[in-house]
Amino acid sequence: MTQRRALITGITGQDGSYLAEFLLQRGYQVVGMARRASTDPFERIEHVRGLITLRNADLLDQSSLIHLLKESRPHEIYNLASQSFVPTSWEQAVLTAEFTAVGVTRLLEAIRFVDPSIKFYQASTSEMFGKTHEVPQSERTPFYPRSPYGVAKLYGHWITVNYRESYGLFACSGILFNHESPRRGREFVTRKVTDGVARIKHGMATKLRLGNLDARRDWGYAGDYVEAMWLMLQQDTPDDYVIATGETHSVRELAELAFARAGLDWRQHVVEDQDLKRPAEVDLLQGDASKAKRVLGWQPKVGFRELIEMMVDADLKRYAEGSPAAGLPVER
Ligand code: NAP
Ligand code: GDD
Repeated sequence: MTQRRALITGITGQDGSYLAEFLLQRGYQVVGMARRASTDPFERIEHVRGLITLRNADLLDQSSLIHLLKESRPHEIYNLASQSFVPTSWEQAVLTAEFTAVGVTRLLEAIRFVDPSIKFYQASTSEMFGKTHEVPQSERTPFYPRSPYGVAKLYGHWITVNYRESYGLFACSGILFNHESPRRGREFVTRKVTDGVARIKHGMATKLRLGNLDARRDWGYAGDYVEAMWLMLQQDTPDDYVIATGETHSVRELAELAFARAGLDWRQHVVEDQDLKRPAEVDLLQGDASKAKRVLGWQPKVGFRELIEMMVDADLKRYAEGSPAAGLPVER
């Protein structure tokens, strides 16, 4: 049997690194798409860099995508690349739409042009539910995005569905709720908190400024969620799936748990900062992943407490070792 080839866009991101590991373990030949940079963005995939092929292309550039597909001839494409930080989407709304929305169409067009038998996974998001119509949210819940990011992702979702229905592509949209890990970017709230805890514990800071402490999210572990992406492309027919833990916790609970793990009282360190609040907020996300459990046989393995403790421990260790990757404070 020929070796399966997978192309991952967004290979340098959190999910790209976990998915690359996962596919390598299953014997795949992995090609990672990265955009050209003058600095080295490969920190998260350093440990597998010798095992994968890296290629330059950009979601903004149609011909680079066509060339990449012609050259790498993947059986499966996982489109994880996007401008993924919600606050930036208000500051760079047009660029976010170019990457996160129209970029999906460029990739689907490249598939149609080069090889319509390629299976396609689109990284959709619970941000599409936004101002939620019901709790918990499932594949049948109406969408109401609350940020330019959410709006762009909704376009990406519907164009994936549309190309499946219009051209018969094997295209799946995974509606993933928040998923985190020690490799999460420092600007996202879980990692901002666990990184802040480690800096305070090591005497490098005393305060941590946060925005809306009442926001609630369904937080899972990224390592569990990449398995669901793969499972979607192994089915007989393409479909869309919600991937979530089914639990919801507030940012306040997150802070309490993370500080406690390091023997600290969050109330002495966390400062609520109005400037970090968003123009429009998504107040409550809680997913219903029963379809994924029934059809894909998928369920999460790592719970909320275990996830946050894993992240705090990793950041404490990083600072204790004086790792240069410990980095500078982020303000949002
Ligand atoms: P991430 O860590 O922010 O990674 C995003 C990736 O996209 C990076 O590799 C980035 O490359 C790449 N990228 C951005 N613009 C690009 C462009 N124009 N051309 C090529 N590559 C580009 O995101 P993540 O957490 O791994 O999430 C993966 C995907 O799932 C994203 O699409 C995100 O929106 C979506 N999603 C995430 C979650 C979550 O909770 N993590 C939930 C639902 C959906 P650089 O290194 O060059 O910046
Ligand atoms: N980033 C951040 N920083 N968020 C904060 C802060 C803070 O200081 N204080 C409170 N929050 C709140 C935000 O207002 C939001 O309600 C919640 O914490 C989570 O924020 P993020 O961790 O930035 O994630 P997100 O939910 O906006 O988006 C992430 O999850 C989506 C899936 O629902 C990203 O990974 C998206 O790319 C992804 O689609």
